[in-house]
Amino acid sequence: MNRVSEQTILKIRNCEPFLWKNPGKGNTAEVLSSLELKYEDILDAERRWRRFAPLISRLFGEPADGLIESPLLKAERLKHHLEKEFSVSIGGRLFIKCDNRLSIAGSIKARGGIYEVLKFAETLLICSGLLTTEDNYTSIAEERCRRFLSEYTIAVGSTGNLGLSVGTAAAALGFRTTVHMSLDAKQWKKQLLRSRGAVVIEHASDYSDAIREGRAQAIADPKTHFVDDENSADLFLGYSVAALRIRDQISRLTGNDWRRIFVYLPCGVGGAPGGITFGMKHIYGDSVISFFAEPTHAPCFLLGLVSQKHEGISAKDIGIDGKTIADGLAVTRPSALVCRTMDRLVDGAYTVDDACLLPLLSAARDYTGEKIEPSAAAALVGPAFAAREGLCEERDIHIGWLTGGSMIPGDTYEKLYEEGKGLLR
Ligand SMILES: Cc1ncc(COP(=O)(O)O)c(C=O)c1O
Repeated sequence: MNRVSEQTILKIRNCEPFLWKNPGKGNTAEVLSSLELKYEDILDAERRWRRFAPLISRLFGEPADGLIESPLLKAERLKHHLEKEFSVSIGGRLFIKCDNRLSIAGSIKARGGIYEVLKFAETLLICSGLLTTEDNYTSIAEERCRRFLSEYTIAVGSTGNLGLSVGTAAAALGFRTTVHMSLDAKQWKKQLLRSRGAVVIEHASDYSDAIREGRAQAIADPKTHFVDDENSADLFLGYSVAALRIRDQISRLTGNDWRRIFVYLPCGVGGAPGGITFGMKHIYGDSVISFFAEPTHAPCFLLGLVSQKHEGISAKDIGIDGKTIADGLAVTRPSALVCRTMDRLVDGAYTVDDACLLPLLSAARDYTGEKIEPSAAAALVGPAFAAREGLCEERDIHIGWLTGGSMIPGDTYEKLYEEGKGLLR
């Protein structure tokens, strides 16, 4: 079957907001069994998070149990608001997953970014004989380990939030830390990171360029580890653990009385939504329906899948500028690894006009009390689009994954909120 649709590419090129159903979606069990990464890899990542939990609470003072996790909450008032705003009736219940509140980095990137730093530190320390997996990992905060880790550099390219999580974790462990920030990264994120001990290099170009330059500098130094958002299995597995944790939350809130779970995940390079989809498909099989959300001006993942060129195409190749107020999603080329992995696993994707984002940011506070950033607001369009396409029914549940926002400085957030409020009907 020819899966490349010229008509869909035209819609992408015209920056139309629309929902795309993946014509290549396969049977979940079959697709999962064909992939290189397995369920055991997710369990291995969860065990690693647990080994590090005592160290995390000691280094950062939060969370108390050292497990970086967020609540899942009912959002019925927000659902009614979406129905009114988008003139649709949404079959089923709406929940929000509050990664905007995640400790240490305030975004979904805490899951992948911190995980990759921990795994790198663990590998180095075990190889050097300074640690075994049986040890109490709080010993990593002791001088002899910190001195050893300080001989290494961790580098990363970021639109802001990945840098914040990798930079914060790496500096806290004693690594030298370099964060290459793209043009879109917000000033407050750079300042916060510098105050936490990272070196921040500002690039006058977009995310793909920042990654390329960061990668090139890292290759030249054998003691530098580059967290490669365009190709990292560790980041991917760090995110995937969310699926193990949300399983209990869903059971508690619904008594497992549901037909299907729709999950809406804001997407930049695809690592975070991809890892979470991978985990949830392992747990719920075809009963979970996963949609990635991208700005109309930065639809790189959708373009990668629709064109079947995966990372071999940039939104810029078809004249799209990558400019959006959703700074975390301002990406023009997707992750190669994630595009390949999601090709027959993800149910679809949708694009969102920037004009929707600030009103939804304000509505999130008004109807749920959550402080979110524009990127996270992209998740909330999903249930309305699914309803418009006639995809959902009364016994379905919808989860809007609120991917970031709690750490936006108060005055910056108030401005965004007021602007969004002014745009609400
Ligand atoms: C708030 C927020 N949401 C979603 C994403 C998307 O994650 P990914 O780039 O892994 O697709 C990002 C990426 O930085 C982000 O900052």
